[in-house]
Amino acid sequence: MRFEIVTLFPELFDALRTGLLGKAQDAGTIDVEAVTPREFTTDRHRTVDDSPYGGGSGMVLMPGPFAEALDHLDEARGGNPTRRVLLTPQGARFSQAHARRFSELESLTLVCGRYEGFDERIRGLVDEEVSLGDFVLLGGEAAALAVIEATARLLPGVLGNEQSATDESHAEGLLEYPQYTRPEEFRGEKVPDVLRSGNHAAIARWRRKESLRRTLERRPDLLEAAELSKEDRELLEEIRAEP
Ligand SMILES: C[S@@+](CC[C@H](N)C(=O)[O-])C[C@H]1O[C@@H](n2cnc3c(N)ncnc32)[C@H](O)[C@@H]1O
Repeated sequence: MRFEIVTLFPELFDALRTGLLGKAQDAGTIDVEAVTPREFTTDRHRTVDDSPYGGGSGMVLMPGPFAEALDHLDEARGGNPTRRVLLTPQGARFSQAHARRFSELESLTLVCGRYEGFDERIRGLVDEEVSLGDFVLLGGEAAALAVIEATARLLPGVLGNEQSATDESHAEGLLEYPQYTRPEEFRGEKVPDVLRSGNHAAIARWRRKESLRRTLERRPDLLEAAELSKEDRELLEEIRAEP
């Protein structure tokens, strides 16, 4: 899958050379291309921003260099389709469902703002708008990195263990069950006996129940939206009946 980024700071995406995403780039599973709108300016100072019409603080990103950068990426891709996503605190909140949908694309183009934000006409150049959450960053780059990481890890071959992407928080609309490793006892806290029992059915039941419990306690909103089986509802009743 190809990830394209339009950013004033392409060097921030060198971070994707680290760890599993670095390996995925070496293996050709993902391909990352960051371009700066400054390359598509015509003046000596390579200006990409200007003061807002109507007055006010800060600088606004001009549409021209962004449009040119997007055209350049289209050409470099040989006309193959992409989905253009603007990172903005005004967008739909990014979720695992977005990551899943994006991971089915051949190419994703992420457009990062800076300063006071974009000229409104940049919105007309993209297919959708995504926010990392209800807070304001200095720029879209940290949000774009999060989108790339969440999306790329769902691609076949990126994670060492394929199971990891299906058996985890948000994969099925629930939070993940508690995980333990050695030692068996740490500062007086023991690993639950069932996990050392070797009884796979009992372990699976315990994990499902704890996943439901955790979601009920921390994110009841997710539980309302999750598809629950008859067994899940019985487990929830058991949890609710506990003292
Ligand atoms: C300082 S912000 C501009 C915020 C803008 N004035 C507003 O109120 O919507 C600069 C850039 O950072 C990025 N950004 C900031 N917060 C973000 C968030 N929560 N999610 C995604 N991108 C964000 C956007 O690309 C934005 O254009």
